[in-house]
Order: sequence, then C-alpha cells, then structure tokens
Amino acid sequence: MATGFARFRYLAGALALMFVVAMAVPVSAQQPNSVNPNGSAVKEQQLLDQLKTIQGRGSIPDTKSYVLEHPAGRDWRTFHNVTLRWIGLIAMAGMLVLLAIFYLWRGSMKLRSGFSGNTIVRFNTFERFTHWLTAVSFIVLGITGLNITFGRKLLLPVMGPETFSTWSEWAKYSHNYLSFAFTLGVVLMFLMWVGENFPTAADGEWLKKGGGMFDKEDKTHPPAYKFNAGQKILYWLVIFSSLAMIISGFMLMFPFYGGLDVGTMQLAEVFHGVVAVLFIALIFGHIYIGTIGMEGAFDAMSDGQVDLNWAKEHHNLWVEEEVSDSRARARMRPAE
Ligand code: HEM
Repeated sequence: MATGFARFRYLAGALALMFVVAMAVPVSAQQPNSVNPNGSAVKEQQLLDQLKTIQGRGSIPDTKSYVLEHPAGRDWRTFHNVTLRWIGLIAMAGMLVLLAIFYLWRGSMKLRSGFSGNTIVRFNTFERFTHWLTAVSFIVLGITGLNITFGRKLLLPVMGPETFSTWSEWAKYSHNYLSFAFTLGVVLMFLMWVGENFPTAADGEWLKKGGGMFDKEDKTHPPAYKFNAGQKILYWLVIFSSLAMIISGFMLMFPFYGGLDVGTMQLAEVFHGVVAVLFIALIFGHIYIGTIGMEGAFDAMSDGQVDLNWAKEHHNLWVEEEVSDSRARARMRPAE
C-alpha cells in the first residue's frame, strides 16, 4: 500500500513538472498553425490606408512630434531617394553630354582677327571679387548639396560608414555657413550689374543669329553692349534661381520657423532640390563658354583685361561706349 502511494506521488510530481515546462515555452510556439503572426489587423499599411496617419499622444509642446507616419512623408521619401536623383542625373549628365557634343562639333570659338596685343579693362577688382565670391561658394554649396542627394548611394559604399559620416558632417557645416557668402555674392552681383542687363534693341539681333555660336566659320558678328543677350538671360536666371535657393534654403536651415507645417517644409525641400540640380546644369553651360568654349573669355575674370580684338568682336557696342567715354574724360581734363 505504502509503495503504491509512493508511485502515485512520483507520477503526480512528474505531471506537475511537465506542466511547468509547458507553460515556460514561448507563447508563439503554442499558437496553432492557422494563426498568422503578421495578421492583417496589425499591418501598418492597412492602418495608414484607413486612418491616413499614424499618430500618438504626447505631453511635450511640439505637437508635430506626435505624428509617427503619414502618407505625405512616404511620398516625400520616394521623391528624395528616387525622383530627385533621376531629375538631377538627367539634367546634369544631359547638359555635360550636350556640351561635349557641341564642343566636338563646333570646337572653341576662335578670335577671327587674332590677338592684337592691346588690352581693355573688362571687369574691375570689385566685379571680379564679387564674381568669384559667388562662384566659389556656389561650387562648394553644389558639391556639398549633391552629397545630400547622391552621397549615400555613391560615396558611402566607397568610403565606408566612418569616413562618409565625417565627410558628410563637414559638408553639412560648409553648406550651412557658405550660404551666407553666396547670398552676399548674389546681392552684390544683382546691384553691380543690374543696370547693364536690361534688354536693348541689339539683343533681338544677337538672339536671331544665335550669338554666332552655331556659325562654324565664325563669320557672324552680332552686336552687343557690355553683356550680350545670352549673358543677360544667364544673369536673370542666376538672380531668380538664387532667390529661390536662398528662400527655400533658409526655410530648411531654420525649420518650422514662423509656424510652418511639415507639408510646407517638404515643399521647400522639393523646390530646393529641383532648382539646385537645374541651376548646376545651367552653370555647367556657363563654365563651358567662359573657359574652353570661347578663346580669350577667361581673361576677363582672371586679371580683368581682355584683348581689344576680343572686345571688338564680342562686345563692339560696349567698346564704342568705352572709347567715347575715355575721349569725353580726356576732353574734360583741365589743360596743363
Ligand atoms: C568655375 C566657375 C566659373 C567660371 C570659370 C566662370 C567664368 C566667367 C567668365 C569668364 C565671365 C566673363 C564673361 C565675359 O567677359 O563676357 C563670367 C561672367 C559671369 N559669371 Fe561666371 N564663371 C564661373 C562660375 C559662375 C557661377 C557659379 C555663377 C553664378 C552662380 C556665375 C555667374 C556669372 C555671371 C552672372 C556673369 C556675367 C554674365 C556673363 O558673362 O555670362 N559664374 N564668368
């Protein structure tokens, strides 16, 4: 009898142990196979579709932070990671390809009458300082800005995470601080050259002849004052694109300032990105014509002097004005 009772105690103990072990197994292992742990009731996408936004409750004053996800945020991310990269690639690489084709076909625009050896002042020190302040800050802003769009895709795999994050940190600082130098450059450029960039009758003829750029024999000689019609178009595009970049850029640098909401911030980013890549493509064209595209042009922005023959061929009306001005100055000089 005593042994039978002892056996019963062992059996009861073993059953109790099995029960404890069974309870300790993870809950998921006890689920019958028919239950899908990714059940549709917990799918984010369904929540988003139904509620349009996933939002929590918070106790800090910044109510924007209560929103965890909303569809516009996803659209913006697709724009930033996909659409903007394509727009940038097509605009910038497309422009480089066009310039290469144009150069192969046309070559450098030569001086028809050759260099005379006499020079004329084209841009004074202040004009050149302003130009290079704008240009250098633009180039750094361009490179560091493109890092935000293309860096993760192109540089991260090459540089590795450590180097890429150090470079990106410095790039971001440069991007923020140089925006002030660029703004100053653009304001000065606007004030300094606005008077010479209004349309004149000569611009129509210049445009009709395509500035002589498509005449391989270099025979066309459209008239121009200090700036020809092409340069005036570039000037106004630079002024308006810069204005767009400056306004949207400062909105991004001081986010939500003045009560702006998330949607407006996203719009500012989209605008900043699209105008930037188009602006860079435009400046590729400008750099081409100021360097290899036209013989003698770069001198104007390096030491400020251009050959007299260059000035007569490309800006004849300006040379006439300069000559008559200097004659007038000479006439006004008191007799010795
Ligand atoms: C490496 C970069 C650059 C080079 C080599 C360059 C070269 C030149 C040259 C040679 C001129 C004088 C053309 C003439 O005498 O008629 C000029 C003018 C000018 N540049 Fe630049 N530039 C550069 C970048 C920039 C940038 C980034 C901007 C604006 C964001 C800019 C805006 C202008 C404007 C508005 C003019 C006056 C209109 C014109 O000549 O087209 N430049 N540049």
